[in-house]
Amino acid sequence: MGGRVDSATSAMTMMNPDLRSSILVKTLRRESTDRVPVWFMRQAGRSLPEYREIRGVDSILKVLTKPDLAAEITLQPVRRYGVDAAILYSDIMAPLANLDIGVDIRAGVGPVVEEPFRSIRDVKRLRPLDPSVDLAAMASAVELCVDELAVPLIGFCGGPFTIASYLIEGRPSRSHATVKKLMLEEPNVFHELADRLVDMAIATLTVQVTHGASVVQIFDSWIGTLSPWMFRELARPHLQRLAYESVQLGVPVIYFGVETAGLLKDLVELGFPALGLDWRVDLASIATRFGSKVALQGNLDPSILLAPTTQVLSATEQILAASSQAPSYVFNLGHGVLPETNPETLAAIVNLVHERGANLRGASEL
Ligand code: CP3
Repeated sequence: MGGRVDSATSAMTMMNPDLRSSILVKTLRRESTDRVPVWFMRQAGRSLPEYREIRGVDSILKVLTKPDLAAEITLQPVRRYGVDAAILYSDIMAPLANLDIGVDIRAGVGPVVEEPFRSIRDVKRLRPLDPSVDLAAMASAVELCVDELAVPLIGFCGGPFTIASYLIEGRPSRSHATVKKLMLEEPNVFHELADRLVDMAIATLTVQVTHGASVVQIFDSWIGTLSPWMFRELARPHLQRLAYESVQLGVPVIYFGVETAGLLKDLVELGFPALGLDWRVDLASIATRFGSKVALQGNLDPSILLAPTTQVLSATEQILAASSQAPSYVFNLGHGVLPETNPETLAAIVNLVHERGANLRGASEL
């Protein structure tokens, strides 16, 4: 089992050469392309009837021990929508599942931790990942996906603050008050935890890339809950290491968080090649400010997809128009697809982006 991971060769030799010139990889490298690529966060999952049919009732962590099932779920939205990328069906908590720290993902709730982390002793329960064992199923799922795919596979991991938040809070939190209190009261505990989580993030991304992922995204969804001051004092050093080490993997890296308007300048300075945006920001002005430094992704409010299709398409048009200010833009939502979304709506967005995106980029080349 483990041999696959151990014998993996370097990232660039594994990446299918055709995918280096795919529209997503080129856009994220800020090379010119003739249209805007499109994929959706949470494109795989509960909004798809074919997913509900094969998903079963087990916890997602159990599903992820079956690489063939994880691969099939990953491929479903690519077949249905013709999106420009697949994203691995996994979870930001999946790498921790084998570590015996009482992590589970509860349906309708999210990640829960039996005994939340509060002290250095708790942090020491978090042993380093042994990729050949702990990530073996993930590595196989990646391989099964890339064998089938003609578009890039996006690998991913959680950002250190977001995972730390689940481990310390013990369950999803709105205020993130417990994690912030610990960061301020016992910064050494937080730093030790974040250090280990960055190591885990790099180990996870490395396995994904060596087995064939052509792009990776870091989901640090809750980073925007920090004030700029706490971000700079406590989170930034870890993100700087994560940015440096992930970029060394040789594939484009997207960093994503919600409510990051107050942190955008700091995030751009971290040096990730691409940033994912939520819908609370004005894409045109961000494109003007930062578009020469990073590729941008996202911005359509996932709730809008519950409105009638004509309105969804006009919101899509607006984003495409705003994105023409950005030299490199990837169409996506500002957060994950909501489970109640009609798949026909996503299909209509993909068609529109493929048509209109081509006109926009084509026109800007003249
Ligand atoms: O299609 C994709 O985007 C890939 C799949 C993916 C999942 N989780 C599958 C999943 C990705 C990229 C994630 C990342 C993830 N997981 C994040 C970061 C992105 C974000 O939404 O901010 C976070 C915060 C988590 C933690 C998590 N896992 C939550 C909050 C939930 C939802 C709980 C619920 O049932 O409402 C999960 C479970 C989960 N992960 C589901 C899916 C499709 C839903 C239930 C399931 O299939 O069991």
